[in-house]
Amino acid sequence: MKKVSVIGGGTMGNGIAHVFAMSGFEVTLVETKQEFLDKALNTIEKNLSRMVNKEKISESDKTETLNRIHSALDISEGVKDSDLVVEAIPENFALKKKAFEEIESAASSETIFASNTSSISITKLAAVTHRPEKFIGMHFFNPVPVMKLVEVINGLETSPETTKAVMDLAEKLGKVPVPANDSPGFVSNRVLMPMINEAIFCVYEGVAKPEDVDQVMKLGMAHPMGPLRLADFIGLDVCLDILNVLYDGFKDPKYRPCPLLVKMVNAGKLGNKTGEGFFKYD
Ligand code: NAI
Repeated sequence: MKKVSVIGGGTMGNGIAHVFAMSGFEVTLVETKQEFLDKALNTIEKNLSRMVNKEKISESDKTETLNRIHSALDISEGVKDSDLVVEAIPENFALKKKAFEEIESAASSETIFASNTSSISITKLAAVTHRPEKFIGMHFFNPVPVMKLVEVINGLETSPETTKAVMDLAEKLGKVPVPANDSPGFVSNRVLMPMINEAIFCVYEGVAKPEDVDQVMKLGMAHPMGPLRLADFIGLDVCLDILNVLYDGFKDPKYRPCPLLVKMVNAGKLGNKTGEGFFKYD
């Protein structure tokens, strides 16, 4: 694989384009508007400069990486010659379905399709295309250039060849790929979100204050960040959406979102992005 298209240049997409380009791949980043492309390329440039300042890469590594990133405002233009397409557009099935239909009409029949979805079924997304055997989940973590994990999600019909190609590819990016089968929340969110939800229940039931819940998990369980600060960082709306995916997917009450989480989302207290969640942010 040499050429990769990344669809969507938001929080995840610009990081994904960054790591592919830094590992020598020719990348085409596709966005809907020039201003979004400019913002994504600006973020990549800033993140690469930070790496130069920390002496992790040289100035010429930065220039070469940026030269490998091309851009397009149209999916069919952006995916034409790609070996792999990684989709990182918003977490909405209808939007992703439309994007994959457009991608398939322009991509080669050999191209592997990957989605960075954090909660939509890979099997369901694969069924939108005529190549479910070449469809896979490539779940990166934020911030992509820093986080080592790539959860590689096999849909019902993903072929072993596709899985191997994507696992090898993730290693070439310097990441650690971990395979999982398609299931609500995959492994990462199925384990993380109930923990966050339980931490919120502790606050809701008056067991402990947010800072104390986090302190227990940091000092007692060696978590680098407490679950409530992590929830604020992820976005409380995103946490609620993923808990609802688990709750609906398993029909098991153990995944019911805590009423306090629902209330905070309704109040617009979504965490870092709104300046307030369980904690306040400048
Ligand atoms: P975001 O909202 O920051 O970025 C999405 C980008 O996609 C936007 O810039 C938007 O303009 C662009 N876009 C929308 N429709 C498009 C189209 N048809 N063609 C090209 N670009 C299009 O979203 P974010 O946070 O980057 O999430 C993307 C995906 O990654 C979602 O599926 C999310 O669940 C998943 N994810 C997010 C994580 C996070 O921490 N933010 C972590 C892991 C996965």
